[in-house]
Amino acid sequence: MYSLKCHRYIYGWRILAPGAVDLRIASPIPAGYSALMKTIIEPFRIKMVEPIKLTTRTEREKLIRAAHYNPFLLRAEDVIIDLLTDSGTSAMSAEAWGALMRGDESYAGARSWYHFRDTVKDIFGFEQVIPTHQGRAAEHILFGVMVKPGMIVPNNTHFDTTRANIEFVGGNPVDLPCAEANDLDSYSPFKGNMDIAALEALVAKEGPDRIPVIMVTITNNSGGGQPVSMANIREISRVARAAGIPFYIDACRFAENAHFIKRREPGFENTPVIDIAREIFSYADGCTMSAKKDAFGNIGGFLCTNDAALAHQERNILILTEGFPTYGGLAGRDLEAIAIGLREILDEHYLDYRLLSTRYVVEHLREAGIPVMAPAGGHAVYLDARRFLPHIEPLQYPGQSLAVELYLEAGIRAVEIGTVMFGLDPHTGEEHPARLDLLRLAIPRRVYTQSHMDYVLEAIGNVWARRDEIRGMKIIKAPQFLRHFTAHFDRA
Ligand code: F0G
Repeated sequence: MYSLKCHRYIYGWRILAPGAVDLRIASPIPAGYSALMKTIIEPFRIKMVEPIKLTTRTEREKLIRAAHYNPFLLRAEDVIIDLLTDSGTSAMSAEAWGALMRGDESYAGARSWYHFRDTVKDIFGFEQVIPTHQGRAAEHILFGVMVKPGMIVPNNTHFDTTRANIEFVGGNPVDLPCAEANDLDSYSPFKGNMDIAALEALVAKEGPDRIPVIMVTITNNSGGGQPVSMANIREISRVARAAGIPFYIDACRFAENAHFIKRREPGFENTPVIDIAREIFSYADGCTMSAKKDAFGNIGGFLCTNDAALAHQERNILILTEGFPTYGGLAGRDLEAIAIGLREILDEHYLDYRLLSTRYVVEHLREAGIPVMAPAGGHAVYLDARRFLPHIEPLQYPGQSLAVELYLEAGIRAVEIGTVMFGLDPHTGEEHPARLDLLRLAIPRRVYTQSHMDYVLEAIGNVWARRDEIRGMKIIKAPQFLRHFTAHFDRA
């Protein structure tokens, strides 16, 4: 069996065998991280646990076959380590669980609403706060009001739901990632940046009448969880303001992005991360947010703006689709939990741990020669399935094969981001290889420990060792839209 050179790493140090400590740093803590010691620990204790059902490989063979080789169709309890998404899967704190009991469930003007609104205003700084049941509801309302058929919305990279909500109202989402985003091996610090020259060219060509809003997604989820620099955000804002176009931020992972700025962008070393977040949002006219990411919520979201007239229109839709403007599709207890989560996520020890623990996985994979996107982003690890399985053609879905193998190997669930997800043109029915074939392993917040991540590393190492035997997949049946969720596969 392939071994990742040693069996146990403690963030930055390696133990070779019980008792024998090799003090060479395997994955040094980068300068600037506020490590109190060289070992970075999970900065929380575990008060309540959920058992994991352990399955055998023989059981998993049956289970994945019954799920038609699509991990989305597995029962969650048949998964050992669930890295399908970091969304809504976070562990809430004792403080947030306690606050659930204090949730004020009044229909209008609940105390929990004011707690939520004031917290959002304090961090994000916008005048108008509109609660929604999750991020895509905020997008749906925003684009429903702002985007008319034929209009263009630029973004560094639109997340799927953002793209779909723009298309739903007849708009045209355009991705303008920076050049480095295309190089999976580049260690450029802000690969989430937008291409400013391309944005300027688009604005000059189409003008503000055709571009109702410019967006940027922090961190850039579809581009690998890579951060956007403050300099880039300032530039986008400058272009938007010069053209009189509103600038919105998709803020799902704003705290991780702010902490990357603190650790990587000169001039922010000593700025509290909350002030970095405030500065980011000061350049924008509004934001959409999924509280299921950087607010530790199991549900929730919001839409913000400084434009009172726009907010009035948005609240009218909110009442129709989500609920009264002081709860917007959420229970009072959810509003409480989110208000607490938004404060907790800005704890810099937590953020150091978060970014370093993702980096820990990525750096050990790279050290073993396993193709993975660099540098580590905040919330996920992206294996390059096309390079991992070069003998499998893109139209035989190397990312899906890898997802299946990782489940068979160790009960790990991850998601293909490649030709299954993006390869089919739903209008022509034609299929083409996607730009990349990746496998995303998204890491829920405060849920898994380092030994879980060591298990993941060992599993990937074992699959890598037998990669030549892995076969491609074929689709047996699939719907026309968003086929990755429900498609049935078989081995090619
Ligand atoms: N924007 C980004 C950048 C996202 O990553 C997501 C969700 C959304 C918007 C929509 O938020 O789920 O609350 O409606 N991303 C999840 C993921 C689903 O797995 O990456 P939502």
